[in-house]
Amino acid sequence: MKIKTMFHQRHVLMCFLLLGFYSTAFSQSGYGLWLDYEKVNDASILSDYQNQIRSVYFLGESETLNLAREELKLGLNSLLGSSIDFSSTNSNNASITVATFDQLERKTQRKLKKIDIAKDGYYIGHDSGKIVITAKEDIGILYGVFNFIRLLQTQQPIDNLAILDAPKIDLRILNHWDNLDGTIERGYAGKSLWKWQKLPKYIDQRYIDYARANASIGINGTVLTNVNANAWVLTPSYIDKVAALADAFRPYGIKVYLTARFSAPIEIGGLSTADPLEAKVQQWWKTKIDSIYAKIPDFGGFLVKANSEGQPGPQNYGRTHVDGANMMAEALEPHNGVVLWRAFVYSEHDATDRAKQAYSEFVPMDGKFKENVIVQVKNGAIDFQPREPFHPIFGAMPKTALAMEFQITQEYLGFSTHLVFLPKLYEEVLQADTYQQGKGSLVAKVIDGSLDNHKISAISGVSNIGSDLNWTGHPFAQANWYGYGRLAWDPYLDSETIAEQWLRSTYSNDKDFVKPMTDLLIESREAVVNYMTPLGLHHMMDTDHHYGPGPWVSELPRPEWNPTYYHKADSKGIGFDRTKQGSDAIAQYADPVAKKFEQLDQVPENLLLWFHHLPWDYTLSDGKTLWNSLGIHYQKGVDQVREMKKVWEQMSPYVDPISHKEVSMLLDIQLHEAIWWKDACMLYFQKHSKLPFPKAMEKPKHSLKHYKSLKHPYAPGI
Ligand code: GCU
Repeated sequence: MKIKTMFHQRHVLMCFLLLGFYSTAFSQSGYGLWLDYEKVNDASILSDYQNQIRSVYFLGESETLNLAREELKLGLNSLLGSSIDFSSTNSNNASITVATFDQLERKTQRKLKKIDIAKDGYYIGHDSGKIVITAKEDIGILYGVFNFIRLLQTQQPIDNLAILDAPKIDLRILNHWDNLDGTIERGYAGKSLWKWQKLPKYIDQRYIDYARANASIGINGTVLTNVNANAWVLTPSYIDKVAALADAFRPYGIKVYLTARFSAPIEIGGLSTADPLEAKVQQWWKTKIDSIYAKIPDFGGFLVKANSEGQPGPQNYGRTHVDGANMMAEALEPHNGVVLWRAFVYSEHDATDRAKQAYSEFVPMDGKFKENVIVQVKNGAIDFQPREPFHPIFGAMPKTALAMEFQITQEYLGFSTHLVFLPKLYEEVLQADTYQQGKGSLVAKVIDGSLDNHKISAISGVSNIGSDLNWTGHPFAQANWYGYGRLAWDPYLDSETIAEQWLRSTYSNDKDFVKPMTDLLIESREAVVNYMTPLGLHHMMDTDHHYGPGPWVSELPRPEWNPTYYHKADSKGIGFDRTKQGSDAIAQYADPVAKKFEQLDQVPENLLLWFHHLPWDYTLSDGKTLWNSLGIHYQKGVDQVREMKKVWEQMSPYVDPISHKEVSMLLDIQLHEAIWWKDACMLYFQKHSKLPFPKAMEKPKHSLKHYKSLKHPYAPGI
């Protein structure tokens, strides 16, 4: 990443010293993420910082405060290039004071008493020309320290600080789809971080580095296991292992959660049923949950995928999601645990449009869930596509706390080979207006609980983290972990700010790097939409592994697993009619939104074929036919990747050579695959449209037969 050494963790430094020959490659591996505190390279900014920061008065002792102190020491010493004096007494009138509010000196308390610091939040300001970092809780101090360091890393002025900040969402969670055998469902960055066989005695340094990275962006929860759950994780020996992880994460403010397999009472409990209305089943869960809390007093709770894609659930016993979720919630309630109950449901026995099914099933249950149940909803109604309209459930269940589920891992967006900056996608969804309570009913307000006054709020991101040295496979996929965390903290942040902060912290503050690369990141999301699924197309990937295009797939046993179900291309046209004449999925949105989606002159062009089936010669607002526009969009996606490559080539002065080459090679693959998507999809659609390709579109490199013959039996992530 940055040109110079980026490591500070003690064990890594040891590696450096012992394995000098290895150090160059390792130091440029990306392991240090955005937390590489390199000396400020702008002389005037550096001297300004050095003048303002000479010593630190740091009060208090606790595991979390000690981490905050060490982090600040590391950050200041590295960024300022000199050893800063840290003291727990204020004898030399230190330039920075760090303390929880109740530990501050009286006179400082008096001055700051009007500042209302929220739980887990912090304040960074000035008192008599000196910087003060304060918070109510120890964890707020850690967050404040990380944010102060970010100011220096990104070379912001620090002479007039007044930053009052706090997370807007309570539970900011990563969902790991990690299996107990070490594989990761939809994981493209190696194996699981969790070394189950070595736990609980062996605490890998990586757990600590993971927790530190998460704390730096405010993530405070982690679901350790796959939603396609294995009941074994609930057995006593595994709970001991989970407890060891919880102990490692706790000082960083991170709680652990587990996925609970609904049939666990049968599989590991010896019962003959998992019926949630049976007293013995309820008792089993209660005893199980009590035993977990005996080992992990701050256990977060359960994430449950039930009656979805073959997973067991309450419906196996003729019961409802409410029955299932409330049973677990009741047992978790005395311990302040929550149930994150997923709304990702669709059935092969339901002939209605898949996009409608979750809403139809869950919305009637609004108001019936216990208060510690949070219904977790994917950002769109299908499945983490490059672009989907926001899920119609958002805003439609005002009496239920709803969590957002984003996917950080790039299952449908090029795995860890394509550079796609996802905060742009997240922002689009969070900023969407549901109109459920009139204009301004943003999805972000549903999620942070402010629209409907919920006591608890949550957001989940399906992790892209694995054992790869750089954590995420593609070096730029780190930006998606980072950006998810930043938006989980503040869902109103804009993606450009996030992109810029990440680039500055990870690579360089040079404006000739930051500006073009911010533009590149922002553009990268639309590029992938263009070369995979333009104009509202969706679910066009090949089967199982979801790698590459497969618009022709039509033979899978479940109709809604076939791409042909979604694009419905035929000799007359293309697109899924979700209007009143079609599946009427549009009716699930609030009126103003529904009207917009229903009417051809109002529907956003980028969602056109999501909602409408249109003739190939349909004329778009710019006068082009639908067919030509499709080809032009695919071509544009390819051209955008070419442009990304060009920009990256010019960035070599700011990036170490190994990382630069690595990203260049990945961009080559991305370009190759963008062309593959364009050619395969357009050749296939041409079979239906029987029209010549638009002039602006480069001719396909191979035949449709060739693209159909490609097989990828060992594609990762299954
Ligand atoms: C997708 C994904 C599965 C995953 C499922 C889910 O269908 O392909 O691997 O299990 O989503 O979110 O439950």
